[in-house]
Amino acid sequence: MAKSVIRTAVFPVAGRGTRFLPATKASPKEMLPVVDKPLIQYAVEEALMAGARRLVFVTGASKRAIEDHFDTDAELEKLLESQGKSELAAQVRSVLPRYASCIYIRQPAPLGLGHAVLCAQPAVGDEPFFVHLADDLIDAGVPCLKQMAAVYNQKGGSVLGVEEVPHSDTDKYGIVETKGLAAKINRIHGIVEKPKPQVAPSNLAVVGRYVLTPRIFRHLEKIGQGAGGEIQLTDGIARLMKEQAVYAYRFEGKRYDCGSKLGYLQATVEYAMNHSTLGGPFRDYLLDLMSVRPDEIVPPPVARKRARKRS
Ligand code: G1P
Repeated sequence: MAKSVIRTAVFPVAGRGTRFLPATKASPKEMLPVVDKPLIQYAVEEALMAGARRLVFVTGASKRAIEDHFDTDAELEKLLESQGKSELAAQVRSVLPRYASCIYIRQPAPLGLGHAVLCAQPAVGDEPFFVHLADDLIDAGVPCLKQMAAVYNQKGGSVLGVEEVPHSDTDKYGIVETKGLAAKINRIHGIVEKPKPQVAPSNLAVVGRYVLTPRIFRHLEKIGQGAGGEIQLTDGIARLMKEQAVYAYRFEGKRYDCGSKLGYLQATVEYAMNHSTLGGPFRDYLLDLMSVRPDEIVPPPVARKRARKRS
């Protein structure tokens, strides 16, 4: 099969991020920073490194900040240059390289991930494309989407990024059914959205990375509401796999669930520890903090109040 470059990446960013309220009341959850870059920038960088050049954002209410982030800000660049901060100016300029272009499509109502992907169809056309969910931050030597593009080129069918999750967590993910559970690449024979642990076909969960063939659109057009009353991408994939091969790929790298507060904090700490300039001082700070005896740790205000009441 001739090698093909996947040119388009779709970023569904219409979700309201209710788990992070009130932080996400007026600003998108995808703009939450991990150290010094918003989640959506990590997402775009990963897609660019995988070869994508056309970036399609499916947006909703309160998402203007994403457009502004990837827009040129000549005034800010000029100001930084005039202050002699050319390194910062270069960083601002490189948020989006010139060879990439952004397309924004509004999802008229929050009808689900499958519906969001369907909204991107006019911009994607008749080509394979990436779908990237910015909540799932993946730290990897070779960017996850790049690994998946290689699998697509090897196998020629849609590819889903998967990892094992605790059995008790299957109802948070799309879960796949495969035959050779242990292999790195497996053809899937079933996929179900957020099954209860008792009925889940496995504990192999789809994380927010997909390479999809354009045939998916035909199926997304036909499906109705699924789990949670939403039009689910998972249900479209369940139909697609009956006519084309769909593969589950166990990617290399570490995923952080930045859609949850704990996962977001873990990402923040670990990215800070590995940061080129902050890493050293931040590690020292953590070591210092950890060397404090537990009884020396100042309790949070609520616990303090309770302790006062008891005494
Ligand atoms: C979505 C998908 C689900 C997938 C998950 C990965 O769910 O519907 O299949 O496993 O992303 O993060 P959400 O987290 O948006 O509920």
